[in-house]
Amino acid sequence: ANTAKAPALTLGFESIAGAMTDGVVVPPGYTAQVLVPWGSALSSSGPQWSQTLELTPEFQANAMGMHHDGMYHFPLSTDKASSDFLLAINHEYIDQSALWSPKGGPTHQEEGARPADEVRTEINAHGVCVVRLSKNAEGHWHMVKDDAHNKRYTSATPMVLAGPVRGSEYVKTAWSPDGTRVRGTNNNCASGYTPWGTYLTCEENWPEVFINTGEMTDDQRRLGLRDDRGRYAWETATGGAQGEFERFNNTPSGDSALQDYRNEARGFGYVVEIDPYAPNSSAHKRTALGRFRHEGCWPGKVVEGEPLTFYTGHDARNEYIYKFVSKKRWRAQDANRPGERYDRHAIGDSYMNEGTLYVARFGSDGRGEWLALTPDSTIPGGGPKGERTLGDVFGDQAGIIINTCDASDLMGATPMDRPEWGTVDPGTGDVFMSLTNNSKRTAHGTEPEYTESDASAEALGVGYKTAPVNAANPRPDNEYGQVLRWREGASASSFTWEVFLFGSAADASPAVNRSGLTEANQFASPDGLWFDQRTDEGAGILWIETDNGIDKGRTNAVAEATNDQVLACIPGALGEGYTELKRFAVGPNACEITGIFATPDRTALFINIQHPGNWPVPGSNDATAIANGQVRPRAATVVIQKSDGGKIGV
Ligand code: FEO
Ligand code: CA
Ligand code: CA
Ligand code: CA
Repeated sequence: ANTAKAPALTLGFESIAGAMTDGVVVPPGYTAQVLVPWGSALSSSGPQWSQTLELTPEFQANAMGMHHDGMYHFPLSTDKASSDFLLAINHEYIDQSALWSPKGGPTHQEEGARPADEVRTEINAHGVCVVRLSKNAEGHWHMVKDDAHNKRYTSATPMVLAGPVRGSEYVKTAWSPDGTRVRGTNNNCASGYTPWGTYLTCEENWPEVFINTGEMTDDQRRLGLRDDRGRYAWETATGGAQGEFERFNNTPSGDSALQDYRNEARGFGYVVEIDPYAPNSSAHKRTALGRFRHEGCWPGKVVEGEPLTFYTGHDARNEYIYKFVSKKRWRAQDANRPGERYDRHAIGDSYMNEGTLYVARFGSDGRGEWLALTPDSTIPGGGPKGERTLGDVFGDQAGIIINTCDASDLMGATPMDRPEWGTVDPGTGDVFMSLTNNSKRTAHGTEPEYTESDASAEALGVGYKTAPVNAANPRPDNEYGQVLRWREGASASSFTWEVFLFGSAADASPAVNRSGLTEANQFASPDGLWFDQRTDEGAGILWIETDNGIDKGRTNAVAEATNDQVLACIPGALGEGYTELKRFAVGPNACEITGIFATPDRTALFINIQHPGNWPVPGSNDATAIANGQVRPRAATVVIQKSDGGKIGV
């Protein structure tokens, strides 16, 4: 056997200082170019963006949405994969003050009925965009306007429900009496992709736009629907057809589910598959992968003849980590054929509708167990009424999926410090996942404790469960977060794990600063992750993005020292921590940095700047608006390249 060690990989730049400016800071020798900010029109006909443009539903339906988040690239050909591709990108949520700044803010946000066209515009600012990007001979990138692939998916676009929930009683509505379709995808946070060339976009803080003013169902209460007024009060608008606005109100109003929208929110909370190559296809909600506040979805190492694995996490305090293992085994002939149009959703149906959903339990000894969420899974200690199996409690697999979190509680899953992004080392198959922080992690106690009053008080995607420390989440009142690493075991139900890296302020006590961070690499609230393989042996860079920003309170020492950042990390072998960790980029004031991939040739790293406070001002074309303080901050993509055209990071 070849026992040679992987060639040492070293980072080819010096860690940059923390920064608090209105710009993106990168190391010497690198450039950062702003691309496709919110409001960039996808076609050259019709109105184009200006700082003073008052947006309409029609404009926003054909322009980049707000608050860029997860994204991925889809080549149109193999030879130009690094210079000409389709970008699929999420628009996580909206900033109403920037959206409506020309008229001074949103209308009737707090009380009364929202105007229908304001609501339609806000709905169209959510969702996903597919847009073609191309690089010219000088190394500058641009959007290819009017390309036939350019397309917006919004919170109103009709989509297909696929997998166990499809056609079940849980999802029948007045608009979809057979429970096979739903309108829109919402609060799309992180992302993923499949080996057959489709994009995975994940629905995270969607419960906030739905209300039920009557008695909540168990799943509505568990996931945190609102009981009075929606996050943007979309349900208050009138004048639409086919329940256009009424659907956001899940309070039963008719005699049966076929006459109202009591089930509307059950069409949300999924991993959603989009074929960027086929603009006329419908997005498919892959319900087999569970229903909760999905952060993102990441494919495990792909091996011919083996089942496919997809990892996901529920970003709320003391929620869980999941994996889905396909029943079908991977066949290389299903691999993506770049640029070609064929029925990729049929391939998706064959891998993502049938399989087993598992939830993770992290043991105190570095070993872990994947607990199957199936009707015949035996509940340790029995169910709340003495039931023996999950099927006894929830009925069929559709019932388990609708109530994924409750099923995971019963099986004894480990409550985590808010799972955010994952990524897989394509060499070893090791999985990394960031746990961003957790203010509801206590030092003592034995059992998770539900405090229902917190559900409405902390409705903004943060969970309501308090839990004591455990081995994988060992720091109480965890304000810095950590990155886990695990490796699958011999069976589908076993794995080994470690806390790979602890976030911390440099000057924190040793009990907190467990990874020896210094001023040069201190960080908090890890979020975006991407593993960039560079050698046959799997040695590569783990890129880490942070979400520790000012809108989250800025109370820790890292937030006082720097804006959110991108770090580059060279992991050692399992159990050996990291060999290098350096600060690579720092974002503008008030932003978080999220979304990440590099081109296959590793010469361009793409990131997103989300919710900046006053950026990208230099790109504004409206001096009067700037002078009047009416500049609308715009989330945007940033492409980082080396001035000499070399590979990023090394
Ligand atoms: Fe939308 Fe969990 O970040
Ligand atoms: Ca995130
Ligand atoms: Ca976050
Ligand atoms: Ca965010």
